[in-house]
Amino acid sequence: MTNILTVQNIAKTYNMRDGIVYALNDVSFAIKKGDFVSITGPSGSGKTTLLLALSGLIRPTSGQIIFEGKHLENASDKELAGFRKKHVGFVMQNFSLIPYMTAIQNVMVPLSLNGHVSAEQQVLSSAVLELVGLENRKNHFPRELSAGQQQRVAIARALVNKPSIIFADEPTGNLDPALSTEIMEFLQKINKELNITIMMVTHSPQAANYGNVKIMLEDGKLNN
Ligand SMILES: Nc1ncnc2c1ncn2[C@@H]1O[C@H](COP(=O)(O)OP(=O)(O)OP(=O)(O)O)[C@@H](O)[C@H]1O
Ligand SMILES: [Mg+2]
Repeated sequence: MTNILTVQNIAKTYNMRDGIVYALNDVSFAIKKGDFVSITGPSGSGKTTLLLALSGLIRPTSGQIIFEGKHLENASDKELAGFRKKHVGFVMQNFSLIPYMTAIQNVMVPLSLNGHVSAEQQVLSSAVLELVGLENRKNHFPRELSAGQQQRVAIARALVNKPSIIFADEPTGNLDPALSTEIMEFLQKINKELNITIMMVTHSPQAANYGNVKIMLEDGKLNN
């Protein structure tokens, strides 16, 4: 199978007053389409920096990132924004839902950014909310939903553009064990049934076990 993502010798440094910080230091690996990748490592080891670089939100200081044959490291800002809109879904620890929008309005945001007309946004968003089992909660605001339901809305929003890859940064970090299992089962279902590649940062060994590929970071370096 072909690689969806190839990372070659990437580094990300920050010049601080008291010296250079190596957030990532000579990291290389390859991911195949349909892989479920778990990324673990101590606080400050570079996990979030890695996800941000792979999704084109920050640029590596050196090295290459190749997504489906296209080099991201020398893409323009406009090309990177286009790449994210078309190929990438995000799920964050704090759900990052917009508080004054209902569940369905939150899910519609990426569609509206991609220029879909309103009727189309409604239909596509209802379908993904149904997929995550929330069709009867679509007119609820985030504060009217449980934590697990809020995270399922966030997953629906990540899915609605039919991304080829989902980046998740501690998606179960704010959930109790039962809800964490529920969310992990959802991510696994999306991975298996829709063949969407998942790269997930987690501190939880149980969550990390869902991955068929495991990346461990320490001080910005691979520790496998
Ligand atoms: N914008 C920045 N400017 C300067 N240093 C940064 C910046 N972003 C991250 N760093 C440094 O890079 C290192 C890696 O940070 P990163 O956020 O990737 O860690 P992490 O593994 O996600 O940690 P956590 O588990 O706590 O979320 C840390 O030492 C951090 O202080
Ligand atoms: Mg982090």
